[in-house]
Parts: sequence; structure tokens; C-alpha cells
Amino acid sequence: MFVAFLVGACLAGSIAVAQASSAAGDVEDHAWWKHAVFYEIYPRSFADSNNDGVGDLRGIASRLDYLKDLGVNAIWISPCFPSPQVDFGYDVSDYENIDPMYGTLADFDYLASEAKKRDIHIILDFVVNHTSDQHKWFLDSKSSRTSAYRDWYIWRDGKGPGQPPNNWVSTFGGSAWKFDPTTNQYDYHFFYPEQPDLNWRNPAVKDAMFDITRWWYQRGVSGFRLDAVDTLFEDPKLKDNPIKRPGKNAFGDPFEQNKYNTKLPEVHDILRGLRKVADEHDAVLIGETWTADVAELNQYYGKGNNELQLPMDFLFTMVNQLSPAEFRKQIAAVDAASGWPTFVISNHDIVRSYDRYGDGKHNDEIAKLMAALYLTLRGSAIMYYGEEIGMKTTPPTRQEDVKDPIGRKGWPKEKGRDGERTPMQWDSSENAGFTKATPWLPVPPTYKTHNVADESKDPDSVLVFYQSVLKLRHSNQALLNGRYKAINESDANVLSYLRIYKGEGVVVSLNMSDKPQKVRLDLKDDGFASAKSRIATEKSQAQGQDISLGPYGVFIGEMQK
Ligand code: NOJ
Repeated sequence: MFVAFLVGACLAGSIAVAQASSAAGDVEDHAWWKHAVFYEIYPRSFADSNNDGVGDLRGIASRLDYLKDLGVNAIWISPCFPSPQVDFGYDVSDYENIDPMYGTLADFDYLASEAKKRDIHIILDFVVNHTSDQHKWFLDSKSSRTSAYRDWYIWRDGKGPGQPPNNWVSTFGGSAWKFDPTTNQYDYHFFYPEQPDLNWRNPAVKDAMFDITRWWYQRGVSGFRLDAVDTLFEDPKLKDNPIKRPGKNAFGDPFEQNKYNTKLPEVHDILRGLRKVADEHDAVLIGETWTADVAELNQYYGKGNNELQLPMDFLFTMVNQLSPAEFRKQIAAVDAASGWPTFVISNHDIVRSYDRYGDGKHNDEIAKLMAALYLTLRGSAIMYYGEEIGMKTTPPTRQEDVKDPIGRKGWPKEKGRDGERTPMQWDSSENAGFTKATPWLPVPPTYKTHNVADESKDPDSVLVFYQSVLKLRHSNQALLNGRYKAINESDANVLSYLRIYKGEGVVVSLNMSDKPQKVRLDLKDDGFASAKSRIATEKSQAQGQDISLGPYGVFIGEMQK
């Protein structure tokens, strides 16, 4: 399993509960992204319109009605720009075009206009830290030491023959420096060697990258998910990183603390600049932000919220057990952050939530419970495709089948990320209705039981549950705008909370155990007497102040006075 590159740093610190701030319940500006549910699409795997085995933009367009019915307000498309696909699109060779594998700019325009008709925003994935080594900037940069683009990347002399400039290792394995025999220098890459880091200290890089965002805004894009923002800057003196602990990681490299090549303060100047441009277009910036605690998350919101509107709270994804106490702690921390919370439970880099929380017996119940959790908290939610039908992580079982290079390199300890990127399961026909060709990754066997067509017809399915929670979320003022209040905090099995807005209240009770549980609500101080069921799973109900919950049961009710 690929654990994101900064997880080590995150786990090192305990979850800090930040001071309560002015952001609590602050949605009166009704910014569109505050109420939005975002849906991440991994374009290779979503829908294949031309039957070549790889998903594409026309495929996405053909599924917009499905997304609309589900309750999605915005789609974030993982990189669909021209790319040699070494890192499946996170190695961009032209930021202002579409990879032919996914279609054309005309297909993008079609998708944008169809999405607009349905009031669905499009968010693109902006790979800001690095380009592909096939990008024209890099090809020029490496052509000679005097190239006009030389200083667009990080070139340095080695310490001596065969010795890179320092000890930094790539998060994808091996030295972070690649020797170029033509110019006799090394270039720096935090990720694969084919992903050279841009030199953000060069104003020309900044101008070019800012202009790219303007170009897409003019084409109808509503914002960007900014890839790997933590790694934009490096210490100019290239100091060696300290070693965190003895031993070797899955790639055989030392465990380094990324002290001098991540989270440098200069990152925030760039984010403020990108935000200014975004504000001119009513756009949103979502950050791939691997923070150690909420204090770091606050830095990404910026002073007065002038950086990222939605830095993702990955600390939430690291509560890797169904523990009410752990979730309470993390929710309280992010709820007290200085900006609007963003909840994510799965993405293309981490094992799907279905398996992370599933116990093997009640996985569907647990998937519903997790949906009820992250979709009813105060904040924006980012879904990952397939989560809504209970897709299971299905990693390759043989090294020769692995597509993700980190899996090939780190096998067997690191199996790569193919398992969470398998084709969307649309129906029970061959290849799950994703393609008529051989899909680029095999379709998991679970498509027979977990697919959109069948689940749409089953009132007890994970999909219908997602639809109903999203419907409630979009129509209930307390869920849209209300503050969060933890209740029954000493309950070791059930996580309960209220969302309260202008006298209206919603209670959410989630049984994180495999035994039936009872909860007594004592909410007189909040002006509430009892709860009326709006969404309840099997064997879960309320009677006056008492809620009974089946194993892994969910109860969402409107509070009555
Ligand atoms: C983070 C992306 O989510 C991941 O998929 C990618 O490999 C790295 N950034 C490098 O761009």
C-alpha cells in the first residue's frame, strides 16, 4: 500500500486541537465551494467512450447525469493533459492541452458546456511542483548550461565524481538527483526522475504557471486541485536532510526527514499569488496538503484566509480505525481550524476507505457509516469515484502485472496504487460496462455485486444510501450551514454530534461497533426534545430522546423542540 510521502511526519505529532477561531459556522457568504460536494475522477478509469481500454473526457461527459443525480456539485479530474504517463498524468508535458488518450480541447469544451448545463463545476489538477522531463521547458533546460530555460529547473554540480549534490532521496525511491552527462550537472526531482522539479524561485516560472491558471479559467474551469504543494521549494543551500530513524524503506532508502525540501515558508507567497488570480474568477483552490497538525493546516489557509480555500485534511484519512474517540479528536481539531474544513476519506493514492475501515463482514454497513460521517460534517466533502458503490481496493497479485512504477520498484513491500485506481463499476456486464476493450487495469471481481446499475435498483445499497445522504445534505439548512457540536463524548462505541443553524438541529449518531447500541440524547440546553428520523439504517431508530442503533448503524434525525 502506498502511504503518502509525508505520512511519517504526520504521524510523528499527536493531533493538536487548535484554538477555536472565527471560522466556526461561517458560511454566510455562501461561497459556492463551501456547500459543494466534489467528486474526484481518475480519468483513465472512469468511463471509456472510444473503447480503447482507457477512460476519456467524452466518457466523463456521458456520465454527468449520473453524477448530478448522485448530488455532486463539482468534478475534480486528475491530470488529463498531454503526458508520457510515467506517473499516469502527474508528469505533464503540456499544461494547455488534453492528452489524445483522453480526447481533445474540443472534447474538454464539450464536457465543460455539458457540465455547466447541469450546474457542475470543473476542477483541474494542477501539477505545480514539477513537469514531465518531456516538457519543452525541460528539454530546452537540459540542452545546455546557457539555455534560456536552464534556471527553470534545479540544476546543481555534484559533490564530486558520481556524487549527487546532497543526500536527498526521492519519495518514489532512489536519489532525488539525476546526472545529466551533456551538461555535467544534476537535476532535482522529488518524485520520479522523469518529473523534474520546477524552480519556483525563478519569477519566469511563476509567471508562466500563473498564466496557465488564467488560460484554464477562461475556458470555464472553476478551480484547481494543487498537486504536491508541500514540495514547491527547496533549501537554496541544499543542506542534507536528517535521518529520522535507522533502517531502510520499501525502496531500500534511508528514512529521511524532509526538513530541507518540503514545507518551506516561500510556498505561502506562491499560494497567495495563485489565490489572487483565483479570486478574480470566483474559483477555488484545493490543496494536496500533508500536514502534521491543524496548526500547519492553518498556515495553508493563510492569514485572513488568503491562500487555499480548501486544504485537504489528510489527518482525517489517518484515523484508520473505527474509533469514535479518534474521530472526535480529529473533527474537533479541524472544526476549530482557521478556515473551512475539507473532508476526504479516499483518493487515488491511498487504499480505499471501503477496505481501510471494513471488517470483512460488514463492509457495506461500514461504507454507509463512513458516508454518513464525512458528508454530514461542517465543511466541503471530496468523494473519490467508486466510493459511493463500495468499490474495493484490488491490488495486483503479481509483480509483472503492476502498472504503477512505485509498485514495480517497491514490490512486495510496496505494491503501488493500482488497487485503488481500477475501472469504475457501472454494471454487471463484461468489464463492468467501463469499456468493450481490455481495460488498462483489470476490473475487480466485486463488479458483479457492486455496480451502479444494480445498486440503483436496490434500496439497501451503498449507492442509494449515498444518494439519500447527499439529498438531505443539500436541502437541510443545519447540514449546509450549521455549526458542529460534539455530544455524548464519553461514548466509546457511538460517535454522535449535532449540526445547529438558527434554531434548527440535526443529530447524527454512528455506531462504530458490531453490537447494537443505545444513545440517550439530553439536548434540553440546546432547546431540543427529541429526534425525528430522516435517514436510518436497519434496526436504527429514535423514540423520544432514545436512539437505538444496529451494528454499524446510522441514525440521522431532525431535532424537534
Ligand atoms: C501527488 C499525486 O496525488 C500522486 O498521484 C502523484 O504521484 C504525485 N503527487 C506526484 O505528482
